[in-house]
Amino acid sequence: MSEPTLRTEGLTKRFGGLIAINNLSLSLAARRLHAIIGPNGAGKTTFFNLVSGLLQPSHGRVFFQGRDITGLKPHQISRLGIKRTLQIKSVFPQLTVAENLWITRQAGRGFLHPFRAATSDRQTRETVERTLAQIGLSSLAGRQASTLSYGDVALLEIAMAVISEPRLLLLDEPTCGMSPAETERTVSKIRELSRAVDIVIIEHDMEVVFEIADDITVMAQGAILACGSPTEIAADERVREAYLGRDEDEDYVEDAAHA
Ligand SMILES: Nc1ncnc2c1ncn2[C@@H]1O[C@H](COP(=O)(O)OP(=O)(O)O)[C@@H](O)[C@H]1O
Ligand SMILES: [Mg+2]
Repeated sequence: MSEPTLRTEGLTKRFGGLIAINNLSLSLAARRLHAIIGPNGAGKTTFFNLVSGLLQPSHGRVFFQGRDITGLKPHQISRLGIKRTLQIKSVFPQLTVAENLWITRQAGRGFLHPFRAATSDRQTRETVERTLAQIGLSSLAGRQASTLSYGDVALLEIAMAVISEPRLLLLDEPTCGMSPAETERTVSKIRELSRAVDIVIIEHDMEVVFEIADDITVMAQGAILACGSPTEIAADERVREAYLGRDEDEDYVEDAAHA
């Protein structure tokens, strides 16, 4: 068995009197597409913040591919290969799509520097072109980011995470606010990417989750309610009671359970 891509031991995060993550011990296997679901306030984004070093845990430890990364700073964790996108979109609106990627790539390699060697410039340009093609944004390379559709901004964000060749990609509600067509396009990109990189996706859209995930972790009140394959999760009584009770979601669960 290879090391899990992510493992936590007794991970806890308090905000004053509130326990956002409560003694969470989980293990996410490598080379899988993991989805984390759970109601608003379950602690999903906080979990990402702890893994990526944006927040420090109150207790507990985080291991990435077997290595203890607890207490490392965000840039150190990023350099180890964990990249994330945020729930709130964050691209440089005044720059073009290609420039956004270019600057992200150069910053990630630590030399945003006026005296770069020409070879490194050429390599970067090739990497930008490859990533644009990979994510399906080549035709928008010259467009200013502020003029993009919502779905294309989201794809650009994913491209910005991917261009630094991550070993683990954390996507926080990537399809939030998207039209059905944009969602479909994004989901198929994410699935494609998951062949090359470990991915953990926080997702509220149950149709997306059951379609895309190899493994699902259900969180509630900072802890794990259940984890398993989509079929197992769909059949889990506690999950249905605690989270999947809404009519709208019930259909997908029924479908998935009988798939
Ligand atoms: N920086 C923060 N300061 C105080 N409370 C926070 C902070 N971040 C999250 N919380 C609280 O922690 C809980 C979990 O939040 P969050 O991780 O954002 O949930 P989710 O992403 O599952 O909706 C919520 O009650 C939220 O209000
Ligand atoms: Mg969240």
